Amino acid sequence: MSLYKTFRAVGTTLLMTGVTTGFAQSIPSLKDTFKNDFGIGTALNNSQIEERDPAMTQFIVRQFNMATPENVMKSALIHPKWDTYDFVVPDKLVDFGKKHNIKINGHTLIWHSQLPSFIRGIHNKDSIQTFFNDHIKTVAGRYKDNIFSWDVVNEALNEDGTLRKTVFLDYLGEGYIAEAFRLTQQAAPNVELYYNDYNNEQPAKRAGCINLIKKVQASGARIDGVGIQGHWHVGKIPFKEIEESILQYAALGLKVMFTELDIEVLPRNFQGADVNQRMGVNPSLNPYTAGLPDDVQKQLAADYEALFKLFLKHKDKVTRVTFWGVNDGNSWLNGWPVRGRTNYPLLFDRNNQPKPAFYSVIGLKK
Ligand code: G3I
Repeated sequence: MSLYKTFRAVGTTLLMTGVTTGFAQSIPSLKDTFKNDFGIGTALNNSQIEERDPAMTQFIVRQFNMATPENVMKSALIHPKWDTYDFVVPDKLVDFGKKHNIKINGHTLIWHSQLPSFIRGIHNKDSIQTFFNDHIKTVAGRYKDNIFSWDVVNEALNEDGTLRKTVFLDYLGEGYIAEAFRLTQQAAPNVELYYNDYNNEQPAKRAGCINLIKKVQASGARIDGVGIQGHWHVGKIPFKEIEESILQYAALGLKVMFTELDIEVLPRNFQGADVNQRMGVNPSLNPYTAGLPDDVQKQLAADYEALFKLFLKHKDKVTRVTFWGVNDGNSWLNGWPVRGRTNYPLLFDRNNQPKPAFYSVIGLKK
């Protein structure tokens, strides 16, 4: 019997007898399995940060040793008004990390998306510069001793590798990227500093990303790592580009991380994670409401296995693999780019039960 079938049989029995928590705590642990290879992270939502469900907390603590806030440290939430910050949930996140021995990656200081609404009313360089400086100084400064790393700048590139047109580029010019790293380093000298993007394994965007990193390095600011988000599609994982990217980014002296890993199984007519791209609601785009067919489940498991094989091959360069959500029910992909779909992109199902993909990944270390 395969690893998956054995555990599945035990899990089903325990589910029927209502002792799922015990079962969840008896399955292998991702963080322990890969403890000599790289960190294993997850994105956390408000409910998880606030520990509203003790079984969920136990599950997270057993499986992961790193975490990224899915939303609560984004500027719209942490800095809602010009002179008002909201640190309530971010502080809880930091406490969660301390209490459970989970390293926190701050996400994210400078991003064109999820900006506070007051930014739309600003039309001069001085005020944008003041916002930029104050935001970094205040947020990075507050957590300087209790988070591990920051995604300093997020998604600053277009698909062709040129700089994305954002309020920061418009008012501050392209030097804003190196400046963000310099300011964060000043505010939080002991925290690791990363650039994070999606599709930056693709050749044109990767070339732009390398260029961006070299400019930060040439400015004298510190940059410790690069995050490849890893929002990919089942059966279409760009393995060759991923491997090439690991090698090229590491050659710049950077740590390489997979920071928002999920594998979409539903139909979509474009790649990437630009939250402004959407598709209309249509039942043909939501085919698996009754469950994931076996052939797709197998492909998902094969894709995850091959990905982790590649990560292990380059474990001297890859320092962290973070999933974008704990289980399929938490995933943002249930709501994007089409609202209200039933998606299956992660290793755990909606009840935190391990899927075949989980055992394929774990099996690599058996
Ligand atoms: O909190 C409000 C709630 O009060 C309101 O009722 C509801 C109505 O739509 O919206 C809620 O906010 C949503 C928020 O998630 C919290 O659930 C926003 O609409 C929604 O846009 C937001 O989506 C997040 C998205 O970033 C926004 O940019 C996703 O959860 C989050 O997973 C996603 O994460 C990004 C990374 O930060 C960067 N890389 C791409 C990745 C996926 O898009």
